[in-house]
Amino acid sequence: MSTPDPIKRKPLKVTINGEQQPVEQVPDELMMLDYLNEYRNLTGTRFGCGIGLCRACTVIVDSPDGHSEEIRTCITGAHYFNGKSIRTVEGHAERDDRGEVVSLSEVQQQFLNHFSFQCSYCAPGFVNAATVLIERLQRDPVPRSQLEDTISQALESHLCRCTGYVRYYQAVRDAVLATSGTTVEG
Ligand code: FES
Ligand code: FES
Repeated sequence: MSTPDPIKRKPLKVTINGEQQPVEQVPDELMMLDYLNEYRNLTGTRFGCGIGLCRACTVIVDSPDGHSEEIRTCITGAHYFNGKSIRTVEGHAERDDRGEVVSLSEVQQQFLNHFSFQCSYCAPGFVNAATVLIERLQRDPVPRSQLEDTISQALESHLCRCTGYVRYYQAVRDAVLATSGTTVEG
């Protein structure tokens, strides 16, 4: 006779990087970070502090109205994302039919150009934060004179233990300036 499963589960339906994932019975208490790493094998979303401070675990949640926001998956339960559409770091590059990366996003390419990271543990969070920022600026551009401050505000909560942040910030500035419609004169 089988023993009853003591863990409470319920179905989770989530779209990740544009693909509807199979609906699975997922423990009530499971954090989204563990769902991504263990159920979906999407290990680019990183466990850093585990208490909401470093933002290595950030993903993007896309709303139907076109707005996006960053969410920390180490402190947010998987079921919060039920019915939602998210992007992880694996979803930014362009891939061919075999799933091989054929070109990086502007943000990813600028991070490489600027040698922005060392161990890269924080990089997925920075990629997602910078991407949310650039998409916001495309909807609502800022005067060029306010760009550095805007970037600082967007990235300042993301922690990196290896670098001095300068190359990340420079890379994001170049990614913004390479994206049309993100700034206005002034
Ligand atoms: S691992 Fe989530 S905020 Fe640090
Ligand atoms: S590059 Fe190592 S934590 Fe940022």
